[in-house]
Formats: sequence, C-alpha cells, structure tokens
Amino acid sequence: MKELAKGKNFQIKTKNTMMLFVPRKDTWTLIYYGKRLGNAADIAKLWGQTERWFYTLGGNVQETYPAFGGDLETQPQQQSMNKHGALLAIHANGDPTTELAIESIEEVKDRPGFKHYVFSYKDRAYPFFVKQHYRAAFETDIIETWVEISHKEKASVKLPRMDSCGLKFRGLSNRYFVQNLYGTWASEAFVAESEIPRGGHIELDARSGVRDAWGNNPSFMLSIGGKATETEGSVIAGALAWSGSWHIDLLHDANDDLHIYGGVANLSGPYILDPGKTLTLPKFLLTYSDKGKGQVSRNFHTWARDFTIPRGHELRSVLLNSWEGAYFSLSDQVLLDMMDGVKRIGGEMFVIDDGWFAQGEFVRNNGCTGLGDWTWNRDKLPKGLNYLVKQAKKRGLKLGLWFEPEMANTRSQIAHDHPEWIIRGENRTLRCGRGATQVVLDMSNPKVRENIFNQIDAVLKAAPGLSYIKWDANADFMNYGSDFLKGERCANLWFDYTMGVYELIAKLRKKYPKIIFQACSSGGAHAEYGFLSHAEEFWGSDDTDARQRIFIQWGETQFYPANAMACHVTAVPSHQTGRVTPIKYRFDVAMSGRLGLELHPKNMTEEELEFSTKAVALYKKEIRPIVQQGDLYRLVSPYKENYASIMYVSKDKSKAVQFFYGLNMVYCGDYPPPVKLQGLDPKAKYKVEEVNYVLDKKGNPKLHTVVNGEILSGEVLMEVGIGFTMRPEYDSAVLKLTKVK
Ligand code: DGJ
Repeated sequence: MKELAKGKNFQIKTKNTMMLFVPRKDTWTLIYYGKRLGNAADIAKLWGQTERWFYTLGGNVQETYPAFGGDLETQPQQQSMNKHGALLAIHANGDPTTELAIESIEEVKDRPGFKHYVFSYKDRAYPFFVKQHYRAAFETDIIETWVEISHKEKASVKLPRMDSCGLKFRGLSNRYFVQNLYGTWASEAFVAESEIPRGGHIELDARSGVRDAWGNNPSFMLSIGGKATETEGSVIAGALAWSGSWHIDLLHDANDDLHIYGGVANLSGPYILDPGKTLTLPKFLLTYSDKGKGQVSRNFHTWARDFTIPRGHELRSVLLNSWEGAYFSLSDQVLLDMMDGVKRIGGEMFVIDDGWFAQGEFVRNNGCTGLGDWTWNRDKLPKGLNYLVKQAKKRGLKLGLWFEPEMANTRSQIAHDHPEWIIRGENRTLRCGRGATQVVLDMSNPKVRENIFNQIDAVLKAAPGLSYIKWDANADFMNYGSDFLKGERCANLWFDYTMGVYELIAKLRKKYPKIIFQACSSGGAHAEYGFLSHAEEFWGSDDTDARQRIFIQWGETQFYPANAMACHVTAVPSHQTGRVTPIKYRFDVAMSGRLGLELHPKNMTEEELEFSTKAVALYKKEIRPIVQQGDLYRLVSPYKENYASIMYVSKDKSKAVQFFYGLNMVYCGDYPPPVKLQGLDPKAKYKVEEVNYVLDKKGNPKLHTVVNGEILSGEVLMEVGIGFTMRPEYDSAVLKLTKVK
C-alpha cells in the first residue's frame, strides 16, 4: 500500500477518461469525470479553491461518499446532499448523521492494467469507518467503485440506506437523458429513453429479492446534452453488480448538477451492522464515452470478458437444452434420442433441464413438487445420471444439468423436514409462487447453504464429468421472515440472502472448477454483473421467438457480451408467441450470441436437420470466434426500422460478420437503403461473402446481396454501406468479411 501525498489533487486515469479529486478541509471531493484531458491542474483551478468554491460547486461540497448530515458547506436547498446522501447510518446512540473525515488515500496493489485507490474515512465523532474503493481498468475505461462499512460503536448501527456510490457532477449540461432496460417475463431488456425532468429524478429499481434483473436491469446509459446515438454523443454509463434488490437514482437538480446513486435496497427495514463486522457493498461500474453508446457497450464487453466473467476468453459450446423439446417428460429414451439429435447436428453438449429429480410423491413432473430434493428420480431415469454422462461421452458430447438451488416446493422432502429453512413470516400465511407451492430457501442461513451444497455435491460426485450447470431461480421474496436472522434483523435478508447465494456458487465453483455455469432466472433475471462474476453465461429470456429475440438481444448487448448471452433455436410455431419463422431466420438470430438449440431434433424435417448441421458447422468454424470474442457494432436498431442489423469485428479487424434481419413486411417498392458498416480498417480491403443461405428449388443459393464475392475497401463499406435485396419479413442474411492482403 502506498499512501498518496496529502493535500494534493489527484487523478484516476484510464485510456480515454479521467476522474479528478481535490482535497477540501478534512475531506475530498470529485470535481471531474469524463474525457481524459491533458491539463488536470487547470480543471482544479477552474473549480477554484478559494471563496468561489461555494458557488462553482453549486451550493454544496460533497464528500466522495456523501452521508446524510455530512456536507462540509451547504445552503438550505431541497437537493442539498446533507439531506440525502448515499449513506444513512443511525449510530448506536440514535444519531442519524454521519460526518466523514479523511484518514488516508492509499494506492493498493492490483493486477496489471489496474489502478486501485482506497479513500479511508472516519466519522468525526464516532468510531465509524468507510473505506471507499475506486478501481480503474485502464484499457477498457471501466471504473469500479464500492465501499466497505465497519464500526466499533457500543451497539449495532442501523443502515436504512447504504448505496455503493453517490456521485455529483457539477453542471455538465442542462439536459440529461436516461436509457434503461425494462421488461418482465419473456420480454426482458426492452430499451427506453427519457429525459430527467429539471429539478426531478428518475429512479430505476427492482424489488424481487431474487429475480432482480428481470423487470428492470441494474444498468443505465445517461446522455449528456442530448440523446446520444450508437456512434456520437457524450455518455456516462453505470451498472450495479448485484443479484438482489437494488435501486439506481439519477437526479437533475435545480443547479443543473447531475447526481448518481446506486446500491442495494433493503425493503423491509434498515440493515443492522454489528460492531467489528465489515459490510462490503456491491460494485458500481462506471464508464464514459464521448463516442456514443456503442463504445459504452464495447467497454463493458471487453472488460467483462477480460476480468469478470469466468473464462471469458474461452469459446462456448453449441448445446441442445431439453426444456422446450421435452419439458417435464423426461425418460432415458427421450434423453438418448435428443443426444443422437444434437450429435447429428454437430452440437457439443446436451443439457438436461427441469424434471430429472426428487422421489416418490415429490417427483418433479410439473412445477408443483420436488424443488430442493436434488436426487436423481429412479423411476423416470432408472439407469442413473452416470449412465447418461457416459452415453453423452460415447457420442462425443458433454452433459449439463439443471438445478434451482435457492428454491423448494412446499411439496418436497426438504420443506417437510425443515420448514424453518423457508423464508416465511412467523404469524403470516405462507405465500407461494409457481405451482402454488414454490417458496424461497433462506440462503442467509449457513445450514441451508451447506445442505444444498452437499446435495449438489453428491450429484456431481456420482456423475464425474458433468460439464455444465444451469442455475435457475423462479420466485421472488413473497414472505418476509427468517428463522435464522429473526426479528428486526430479518431486514438483513435483502443483502445476506444474495451474499449467501454467491458463497454457495463460489464453493461449488471451487470444488468443480471445470464446470460452466449458466445464470438463469425465469429467463433473463440474472443478466447482471453480480451473477456474471460467478457464471460464464446467462439465459437471456424464456421468449425464444426469433423476432422477439432481436429486440431482447439488442437490449442485453447494451451491457453484456455475446459470449455470455445464450440464444437458442426453438421449434415453430413459437411456444411463446405462436409466430412461425424459417429455420434460417432462427439460426441467424441465435448465431449472434452463444448459439444453442432447444427443441426435439426428432420433430425436425430432414431439410431442417440438414440446414441445422451446416449452420452449426459454419458457426463453430467461422462465426463463433468473431461473435464471441470480437467487438459488437449495432448498425440499425429494430426500434427504428422495419429491419435490424448488427456486426461483430475481430479484435485485429481482419474478420467480421454482419447480420441483417427483416422484421416487418412493409416494403413494396425499393429495397431497404444500404447499411453502413462500422469498426473495419478503412485502409484494408475485405472479401464479402454471404453465408448460411438456403437453396432455391433449382439448388442455387438464395442470396440477399449483389456484392457476394466482391472485394471492397473498408472505407467504402463504412461510408457507403451494403444494400440487402430483401423484402419479406422473417428473412435474413449473414455476411462474412475477410481482410485480403
Ligand atoms: C425457467 C427457465 O427460464 C427455463 O429455461 C426452464 O429452465 C424452466 N425454468 C424450467 O422450469
């Protein structure tokens, strides 16, 4: 640890951005975050460290971590931070104010490419401590910030508000626009954008306790001055790495200042922190781009693959999941047939979804029974799991298995033996979710975690070689008591539950380091960086209709990379929307993420099987490396046109793949205008080839561009663009671009 010289301004720099902090009396304040500039000292001068200070900082000077009651200098305005703050701490003696004074700022050692600073604060009157971290990833312009809270007061301290950050930016503009992702079951990650009213705020939140990236995603892009586009405009973006309930509050105050708060939401009372304990709050991730929203996404994607998502640089297997093809009707025969099917198509893994477990009256044949009883059902699948692992191996496939570790049904052995392990209110009627029997296990209780760990461990031990776990979670907190936490400490559940879940998955990962985890939660409710630091991928949505997926994937890729986004080709009519789309369209959409299938191959026609086999081979050889490891450029938004287009470019710009999707049939005249490509080397020449085409009746490829086979300059492709000769809805094209010498 290196202590920084006291009393000096200091900066945190990344490749293209910087943060500038200045000392003020016994605390520090953040005065600049944005584009990296050459002359930081001049910024400090502009803000002034004289009597002008009070005015230039807009009425109050805020600590880097503002606490209720704690501003240094303030005037009585409604936005004044001494009435808000990221933290509200009710001290042991009942005092609700906190005044943080700096003790030190230290640089701590971190991995190469990172700068990591810790501001250590102590309350001026109480032994109450806050350590605030700023950790900057140089190449990707991502800055993580979070705090650790601890104290040595005589009794516990109550924390009704405990945000990970409270940032204030002085007068960046008089207009701020917030883009957020909202949704619900089977319609995740829709994109909305609204202006923050002057003097008002936009608060995003989720209150499930479990499925907390479903309704709203814990992320935002905030455009400064006017709505940014994919390629232009000034954007501050943030995401909270948290899988439980949360809030993000974005304020535009009367002085045109911008405030950003974000953190865990304790919805039933204050968090109670005992003396000597340290509470480490989730990371709030920040980035800044002066080149629009596309750059924000690329910053997050590269950072996630490099540093957050486990094994972010490995290519993910093409898999077949049993859910939409078989639902609960599992038998050895069904599973073997599915394995044969995925082998024939060229897939690499087979995943057995819900329906394989629990015994006797609790056997899992529908959503009403069995959760929490993680033993192989001997009647449905008499030969056992290891037999299936071996059968998969025989076919050259890896095997995966579904669990829902956080849940139980009231009709299960675990609920029968341990009703006290269920989250429930002592004097209240138990509310249940799916199947009118689903309840949430109390993951704050170490005994519950141990039991579930041991059960899963036994399954994995009995079937060595299992390669993949789909971790599902299909209920919310519906009851608000914990036999373990008890009394007013039950409010700690909002935090301790999620920490318990992280501990459980981390323990499993440690023991089984080769297993790939999928974060699923009724579809996309775990598409967030809390879970994604423990899981390689997420299930994007239970809506697998290809047309709807174009929107959902457009939304999810705002923050999350393609190699983590599981996208499956399913049967038609779509089980969710009834829409019928061609097999090519379904593949073209799923290929733009981590490709998989979720249908029974037995129900496919010979023609579909043949097409799928070629498509999977093409994906594995040509498309997967570019999509899963390249840079994403969103070219035409499905929200704006009757078609959509995206492309991925390999990091060295030698290869690219473009996807073009028809959405609605409205073109009766001309074809859609050319789509300008992005991210290529303007000086290079690229060979353009259409791939994944179908054949017409005469056996000729049905192509959608007249430039197939042409060699064109990167500059022209980006300035003029490629036209697609396509009218019908649900038609699509995939182009491969290869740099030629
Ligand atoms: C919800 C998931 O999102 C689905 O993919 C599937 O696994 C079901 N649960 C199984 O119950």
